Amino acid sequence: MDFTTRRERRGTAATKWEKYAGTDILPFWVADMEFETAEPILEALRRRVDHGILGYTAVPETLTEATLTFLQMRYGWTVDPSWIVWLPGVVPGFNLACRCAGEPGDQVMMTTPVYYPFFAAPENGGRQRIEVPLVREGREWVMDFDALEAAVTPATRLFLLCNPQNPTGRVYRSEELEALGAFAERHNLLLCSDEIHAELLLTEDRPHQPIAQLSDALAARTITLMAPTKTFNIPGLPCAFAIIPDAALRRRFREAQSGLVPSVGPLAYAAAEAAYRHGEPWRQGLLAQLRENHAQVQAAVAALPGVETTPVEATCLAWLDVRALELTDPPAHFESHGLGLSPGEPFGDGNFLRLNFGCSPALLAEGLERLAAGVAAAGNGRGPSA
Ligand SMILES: Cc1ncc(COP(=O)(O)O)c(C=O)c1O
Repeated sequence: MDFTTRRERRGTAATKWEKYAGTDILPFWVADMEFETAEPILEALRRRVDHGILGYTAVPETLTEATLTFLQMRYGWTVDPSWIVWLPGVVPGFNLACRCAGEPGDQVMMTTPVYYPFFAAPENGGRQRIEVPLVREGREWVMDFDALEAAVTPATRLFLLCNPQNPTGRVYRSEELEALGAFAERHNLLLCSDEIHAELLLTEDRPHQPIAQLSDALAARTITLMAPTKTFNIPGLPCAFAIIPDAALRRRFREAQSGLVPSVGPLAYAAAEAAYRHGEPWRQGLLAQLRENHAQVQAAVAALPGVETTPVEATCLAWLDVRALELTDPPAHFESHGLGLSPGEPFGDGNFLRLNFGCSPALLAEGLERLAAGVAAAGNGRGPSA
């Protein structure tokens, strides 16, 4: 387990590095990490490759067992094997959820900013999108229940939740999730809860609460989406699962999947099983490094006039408010200082930038120096960039 050595990824067609190939810009954008995955996962992959035949593959029973044990141990959540639908990604999962919600023309509600593929999902399935902004309360982004009540209509069928929240890094408290559950029950909404970041918790005092676990009634209206790919840094081996306790909803979900969504491949299954069975020591090492990196980011940002952020409770992503710098094109400005950040605009707010701190401390330090140089060149918040 090594979270401090800087590894070369150029030449592997890594999406994150390809974007800036041939430039001096360091990539801190797309949400994969610069860490080599856990050795037991690599061993499982080598074993599977050594067999030499990589044909169509059924869901291994041992994977389902390992996943159920993981859910039981992490959340005390007893999940029946029949509730699980395996998927080649969480993004297809929330797209399918939109197609299960009412009829074409009905509405899907979400809060913003949010992981950008959320925005297209309702329309991809012929539904309409209702966006309700999160609000800043002190150092936290929270749901505005008055605004949700004002925006919901009789045609609203589904609430798409992102918890832990990308890009703000919030982990919603049980009280907030209970209020959201009550809202869903009051308006007879399905819930689709993207919990892909549930195991990347940076705060020790804020456990992740799967919303479906709050009550049987909520479970019956919820599609929970989870995956080992973010946690164990294997997003290039797509494998995710939906937990759908209600049989009729599960049937609709499977029907929506038919002909559109391929099955998961043998290497992705092998990696997922090894992750859930043997990945815990690696995950603990990762969390220790991410907590240090997060402290490094918070300290650096605190020293920069014109940049603000909130504490990241989960994920390896910091959501930077650069409004006060008054830049005409924030991503381009920092790229001109050698720093490639995710533009905030596709997430719903172009005054923000997202910084991925899932990397070695040395690389992060270099990125944060470039952030500081970009801020200094912007005039320390006193005017627009040149
Ligand atoms: C909230 C959220 N959901 C889903 C994904 C991607 O899911 P997948 O690669 O399994 O489709 C990401 C990736 O960054 C994410 O942040």
